[in-house]
Amino acid sequence: MENKHLLKLSDWSENEIMSVLNLADQLKYEKKKGVSHRLLEGKTLGMIFQKSSTRTRVSFEVGMYDLGGYALFLSNRDLQIGRGEPVQDTARVLSRFLDGIMIRTFEQKEVEDLAKFGSIPIINGLTDYAHPCQVLADLMTIREQRGALAGQKLCFVGDGNNMANSLIVGCIKMGMHVSIACPDNYRPDSEIMKWAESTGRFSVSADIKKEAADADVLYTDVWASMGQEDEKAIREEAFRGFQINSELMKVAKADAMVLHCLPAHRGEEITDEVLESHLEIFDEAENRLHAQKAVLVSLMK
Ligand code: CP
Ligand code: NVA
Repeated sequence: MENKHLLKLSDWSENEIMSVLNLADQLKYEKKKGVSHRLLEGKTLGMIFQKSSTRTRVSFEVGMYDLGGYALFLSNRDLQIGRGEPVQDTARVLSRFLDGIMIRTFEQKEVEDLAKFGSIPIINGLTDYAHPCQVLADLMTIREQRGALAGQKLCFVGDGNNMANSLIVGCIKMGMHVSIACPDNYRPDSEIMKWAESTGRFSVSADIKKEAADADVLYTDVWASMGQEDEKAIREEAFRGFQINSELMKVAKADAMVLHCLPAHRGEEITDEVLESHLEIFDEAENRLHAQKAVLVSLMK
């Protein structure tokens, strides 16, 4: 692994992503067989959370345990960073105690600064800009269930948010086509879209049925992300209709998968009916564990 950190997927080469996906498959297989793999014996991971989490926290904490290491949950409410201690000082201090940091926060710059001023691997556990760990688990799930990544079409329906940004980068790097169906005012990051357009394997519009046509994978996420609670009412209005429902399933491939990073808001971005009939969403959630372990081993071993 050339890269010391996982800050965003655009920093990683196709080979680096592929090697983590392969390792994730191997670790999953070993765990199911009961084969222990204490590859991070004696190592410690700090997990800084400035936002809530179920999957990210549990996958990294259980992941470190499985690997023979130790994970510390560091809440924003308790850390001095929550009282204004600068990131550069936090980075320098934590680098002297820990072997790696996973951080969930608002600004991407904070994650980049931890990497800049610290001397240990930094893993982005979600920012407003990106959610690379989730997308590694998503790619693992798509490959597991459809046999390959290259040539598959993923359509993301909803907000051009952190999930959309990371899916565009991760899926296109792995040879997939990505279409985004979103309201015009809620498009993904413009630099990411510019890059995606240059590959010829990207489209974006507010025409949901057009973007979802012949998709192998339909993906969605909440209309209002963490930190956007105040915009809930405006967003409910703006995103009405940007929903994965049984009508939309008809335009995708007959055997299309549905993925959702979770948590889901049934009746908003996805109907209860579609969610309950696409339980691969929970394979996707499980794969957070295996994919996150592969990231930890790749960066910290
Ligand atoms: N998908 C995801 O990151 O879930 P959590 O917010 O529960 O960690
Ligand atoms: N876009 C969502 C993803 C949650 C995993 C958020 O940032 O809240």
